[in-house]
Amino acid sequence: MGDLQAPRVVVITGAASGIGFATAELFRDLGDTVFGLDIAPTVPDGVTYVETDVGDRAAVEAAVATVTAAHDHIDVLANIAGVVQFGRFHTITDAEWDRVQTIDLKGPFMLMQAALPWLKACRGNIVNVSSVAGHVPQPYAAAYSAAKGGLTMMTRSLALELGPDRVRVNAICPGSTDTPLVDEVAATFPDDLDPRVMDRLMMMLPGRNITPAEIGSAVVYLASKDARMMTGTVLAFDGGMS
Ligand SMILES: NC(=O)c1ccc[n+]([C@@H]2O[C@H](COP(=O)([O-])OP(=O)(O)OC[C@H]3O[C@@H](n4cnc5c(N)ncnc54)[C@H](O)[C@@H]3O)[C@@H](O)[C@H]2O)c1
Repeated sequence: MGDLQAPRVVVITGAASGIGFATAELFRDLGDTVFGLDIAPTVPDGVTYVETDVGDRAAVEAAVATVTAAHDHIDVLANIAGVVQFGRFHTITDAEWDRVQTIDLKGPFMLMQAALPWLKACRGNIVNVSSVAGHVPQPYAAAYSAAKGGLTMMTRSLALELGPDRVRVNAICPGSTDTPLVDEVAATFPDDLDPRVMDRLMMMLPGRNITPAEIGSAVVYLASKDARMMTGTVLAFDGGMS
């Protein structure tokens, strides 16, 4: 099926909250069969929950096996699960560094490896949710930027490698989006924040943050047949932040 329209089999990580939740609702409403992989069970109604820690290879492989045992193919993989880590560089602990790299970078790597045979078989596609921090530098976000920058470049590298197989791989780099994660960022800013760096964290379009459904709509678009000549695209969706 691949780039055909619904019904498709769509696998979404991070579907229990924020951008992943909104994206799962949008695919569900198109009539797709949606699997939500998350450590939390609060996926939207009509979405099949598969308990998965994306940082655990055995769990990732088991989740893909659960999906393919039921449907024998995967049309779309959206890697959206993620965590954030903000703070001064010298305060980052090994545990914080490892957590961000494991969930935000190694997680998508393992999901893409596990799903690849099925994506190749039906010429499916992958949408990775990176971040504005994986597109342009952001202060106080070295570990997060390293992980998201890695995800952005892994997307572009894989798009080249998988082009001949007609498997498309694209990324979206959101700016400030109204989810629990963005509240967490605000709560972890250093107390003695240099006001000049705030410029780097502000969107040019004033008045409001991006909504999770706005990012979800971009995921749906990149996964659709309308985008079938798009691969290796890094879509800045950041209110002019970058
Ligand atoms: N909100 C923003 O402003 C913003 C900006 C840029 C990029 N992003 C990216 O968007 C993605 C979604 O973030 P969000 O803002 O919706 O956050 P969120 O906190 O609302 O949702 C994140 C989801 O990921 C899940 N998750 C966390 N660790 C997991 C793990 N180990 N295994 C499986 N699931 C796990 C959480 O349970 C949650 O459901 C993230 O990758 C984030 O980096 C968000």
